[in-house]
Amino acid sequence: MKKKKGILFSYLWKHKFSYLLGLFTLLIVDYVNLFIPQFTGEITDGLTSAALSIDGVIAIIMKILIAALIITIGRVLWRFFIFGSSRKIEYALRNDMFSKLVTLTQRYYNEHKTGDLMTHFTNDLEALRQSIGPAVISAFDAIVMTALVLYRMMVYVDLKLTLLTLIPMSFIAVGGYYFGEAFEKRFAEKQEAFAKLSDQVQESISGERVIKAFVQEEKQAEAFAKVNLYNKNKNMQVVKLMATVMPLLDFIIGLSYALTIVYGGYLAITSQITLGRFVAFNQYLGMLVWPMIALGDSITMISQGRAAVHRIQHIFDEVPEIQDDPHCDELENLSGDIVFDHVSFSYAEDLPLAIDQLDLTIKKGETLAVLGRTGAGKTTLVNLLMRLYDPSAGEIRIDGHDLRKIPLHLLREDMAYVPQDSFLFSDSLANNIAFGKQDASMAEIMQACRDACVHDNIVDFPSGYETRVGERGVTLSGGQKQRCSIARALLKDAAILILDDALSAVDTDTEGQILENLKRIRQDKTTIMIAHRVSTVQNADKILVLEKGKEAEYGTFDELMEKQGIFYEMFNKQQLEKQLRED
Ligand SMILES: Nc1ncnc2c1ncn2[C@@H]1O[C@H](COP(=O)(O)OP(=O)(O)OP(=O)(O)O)[C@@H](O)[C@H]1O
Ligand SMILES: [Mg+2]
Repeated sequence: MKKKKGILFSYLWKHKFSYLLGLFTLLIVDYVNLFIPQFTGEITDGLTSAALSIDGVIAIIMKILIAALIITIGRVLWRFFIFGSSRKIEYALRNDMFSKLVTLTQRYYNEHKTGDLMTHFTNDLEALRQSIGPAVISAFDAIVMTALVLYRMMVYVDLKLTLLTLIPMSFIAVGGYYFGEAFEKRFAEKQEAFAKLSDQVQESISGERVIKAFVQEEKQAEAFAKVNLYNKNKNMQVVKLMATVMPLLDFIIGLSYALTIVYGGYLAITSQITLGRFVAFNQYLGMLVWPMIALGDSITMISQGRAAVHRIQHIFDEVPEIQDDPHCDELENLSGDIVFDHVSFSYAEDLPLAIDQLDLTIKKGETLAVLGRTGAGKTTLVNLLMRLYDPSAGEIRIDGHDLRKIPLHLLREDMAYVPQDSFLFSDSLANNIAFGKQDASMAEIMQACRDACVHDNIVDFPSGYETRVGERGVTLSGGQKQRCSIARALLKDAAILILDDALSAVDTDTEGQILENLKRIRQDKTTIMIAHRVSTVQNADKILVLEKGKEAEYGTFDELMEKQGIFYEMFNKQQLEKQLRED
């Protein structure tokens, strides 16, 4: 994994010294470890031949104790260096991943599920950390320890005996390589299954009310059981593979033991090696077992980590569709003259045009109302204006600058937006409203709320502006949420204000009041107001009626009434409905 110069490489590179230090201390620990069997061997030989005095024994024991002390300190150090680095890398990656995620555009989020994205932050990062922490230690330790122990066995005990132990071990190496790939594949599937599972849970929680309203709990539970089963099966496949590999590993290790003990015993009995060396040899053999098992573990961890890196890499490789042009125009701020010049747009190549050759001019200080049937392209129009997508053809200009030449931060700073589906964060109302202007004073926040006609509602809550929204907080009504969302946009006092059907959930009296406030505070600023009700748009400077992404009608209220076209019909129909309601 480290060989692949992907996203991970740069993070590892940053911590190279820590890793080197960690591996160096690990090397020392391994090296010192080698002497312990030799010391015990010396004691055995010394005692069998009665050549060792009690002082001699104590001296050797002291050596063992010193070695043990070095090993203990070394172990603390390599943990600190390597585990510490892996945690730091995990932390940095998680931050960078989040920063990257927020640069990605609407289209990316349309195409990727929330649960899937969440899994990157949890399971995948965890797997990755393990592969650059514990797995590095195990792999390095296994290789170094094996090499050192084998070397010691050869020079201190017996060459032929050592070669014998190599036979079963070569099986382990080949097997490790062979099973590693299988592990990686199964782990990738396992992670993917988990992502699906998270998705299902996430969607069921968000859609909980719809599920209840349509009495689909059982169906939903069945669907969940299916995904859960799939997840279990994928986990079982990993377990099965492990269940095959691990005992096989044990068997090979056992075999290795049996072979060497038989042959080593023979060598000791025939006095070709001393008893002490035979004892040392057995200890060495014991020291080989752990690295072998650890190697197996690290193979699985590294496979898992590789699968995770691939998944994470996708996020980092994603080029945000909308980015700043390297040669942006130099601008201080926007004043709000908007021009749509022959703009066409479709969400995907095989989809029909959502905006079709639209020409439109909105002067600074004007209020444009946009009407049209659902799906006519109203939201799409403002999506393009906010540059959530770029037009497929044509050009949008603000103050004469092509949108693509305006720095994104400036463009969005000078725009305030009330989305069609209002969204509040689980934070206090005051913080929610000050979201776009963090340094706003309480008086400003309250004024924005008065303008949005939500102040009275807020002060009625027991905690007023400190009321927490959402989880474990107060749940606001649809209309209250919508008006908080309007207040948030008003507070920003931006050059361009966009209200996407933002008065749909308020009664007509309140609507009238809000419209009046808007007229006052937006006097010489540009406002775009999407609406369904004719009453909402009566006082707009210009009205655009969209149909299938095209301009169907455009003009002032009087002009459109005179024309007796679509708008006129809508007006009459809604008047009639109003009368019927009032009767
Ligand atoms: N993310 C998307 N991907 C693909 N098609 C989309 C996407 N969003 C909208 N559309 C399509 O584009 C067309 C215009 O949608 P848009 O949301 O602009 O309509 P609208 O006028 O805002 O409707 P409404 O009044 O219901 O809000 C519709 O046909 C819709 O299906
Ligand atoms: Mg819409």
